Amino acid sequence: MTIVATSETAGALALAQSVATAAYIVAALLFILALAGLSTQETARRGVVYGIVGMTIALLATLVLVVANGTLVLDGASAALGIGLLVAAVVVGGAIGLWRARVVEMTGMPELIALLHSFVGLAAVLVGWNGHLYADGIAPELIGIHHAEVFIGVFIGAVTFTGSIVAFLKLSGRMSSKPLMLPGKNALNIGALALFLVLTVWYVATPSIWLLVAVTALALALGWHLVASIGGGDMPVVVSMLNSYSGWAAAAAGFLLNNDLLIVTGALVGSSGAYLSYIMCKAMNRSFLSVIAGGFGIEAPRSAEAEEGEHHETDAAAVAELLRDARSVIITPGYGMAVAQAQYPVADLTKRLRERGVEVRFGIHPVAGRLPGHMNVLLAEAKVPYDIVLELDEINDDFADTDVVLVIGANDTVNPAAAEDPGSPIAGMPVLHVWEARNVVVFKRSMASGYAGVQNPLFFRDNTQMLFGDAKQRVEDILRAL
Ligand code: TAP
Repeated sequence: MTIVATSETAGALALAQSVATAAYIVAALLFILALAGLSTQETARRGVVYGIVGMTIALLATLVLVVANGTLVLDGASAALGIGLLVAAVVVGGAIGLWRARVVEMTGMPELIALLHSFVGLAAVLVGWNGHLYADGIAPELIGIHHAEVFIGVFIGAVTFTGSIVAFLKLSGRMSSKPLMLPGKNALNIGALALFLVLTVWYVATPSIWLLVAVTALALALGWHLVASIGGGDMPVVVSMLNSYSGWAAAAAGFLLNNDLLIVTGALVGSSGAYLSYIMCKAMNRSFLSVIAGGFGIEAPRSAEAEEGEHHETDAAAVAELLRDARSVIITPGYGMAVAQAQYPVADLTKRLRERGVEVRFGIHPVAGRLPGHMNVLLAEAKVPYDIVLELDEINDDFADTDVVLVIGANDTVNPAAAEDPGSPIAGMPVLHVWEARNVVVFKRSMASGYAGVQNPLFFRDNTQMLFGDAKQRVEDILRAL
């Protein structure tokens, strides 16, 4: 690689850098506007457009920098190789991203997001290793800071990488959603953090490659253990927490690459992810610290003797009869409604009942389905009016006064064990009190448990009837019978 530097090329390079810096500031502002836009349903589309424009500007600015560096500083062959590699990476990555985004089902979104977080973690690890191997040219007074950045960046990146892979495996059902309960799991996590601190000080003093190997292995194991220790019911919080970690990993890579945009974007993702995790923990009545520390303080639940008993089965005609006599109906949808794509017949049923003068409302649990707002999106898609779609807090006191509750493909979010059995793995999680209604009809295909793998005593209550089968077909049967 030949380096050709004249005052003219230095001037041109400085100009390219100024253009890129200005473009990065505009992109960062657009990312902030994108986040602001995404905070409400009405402005979400605009938010997405801001994000796309910001990312396009960022990519073009990076391209300008690479081309300027390549053509002005390097020789022809190195420049062509660098630019070629960048374009190839963007084209291949962009094509795979476009293809996955087009084919992914709504129910598969969380696992796709978890997988994407793992890429950010891996990128941060690679950038960190690169920072170790090519540390030439760093001012002696800054070398200590550089080494700390390398070490911390590799640590956060590796935790994010394996943590996200475990989240992906759990969300896609390739790994059990039950929490891993190693003996002394809290001591293992605290020990790993303490070891990380010692290794960091050691590495900053004597930056040996073996210390970097050690921290990479330690962080990979810690990331795996942190997420494996968290039970199915807490996975939504884990996904948003990994989102936050991936932001901090990107920010750490930004410091190493001296890239302000990466620092700002990483910090935006890191802090918004942390705040979302905090909001979700509050909604789920979970301790934020306990969840980010891999279920810290949560001991193995006693092996709850699953409440068994007799369940009562019903059919579509009988449910239609029940609805004909009802004055008030609450529908509580869950993941099964998304799988069955039952939102359209559910919207028709709602319309039909409302025309008959029945009061119909929806009760939406904050983690129903597989991603925040999942049920709201499906119901909006099927044109269910917003004003009858209520949050858990808004509707939970009304079940006792309700004639019929239709539980459509929901399970964990309507499990009375969370409210009544302190030994249950989901104890303390707020749930919809559907069992207080006069009649409850549960639409599902079998007696299988929900995502958290916990038995649901609701199915054996006297006022509960099970309507087995695919939720979409059963709702259509009811519509016909009506
Ligand atoms: P789940 O507890 O996941 O239960 C869904 C139920 O739907 C299952 O019991 C299943 O029973 C039934 N089902 C599946 N396909 C069906 C079909 N085609 N027709 C009829 N029923 C069908 O649902 P939930 O109450 O919505 O709870 C969500 C769970 O996911 C919580 O544990 C939550 O923590 C977790 N989670 C949520 C998120 C977010 S952010 N929302 C992200 C990750 C995880 P059968 O198999 O017997 O039919």
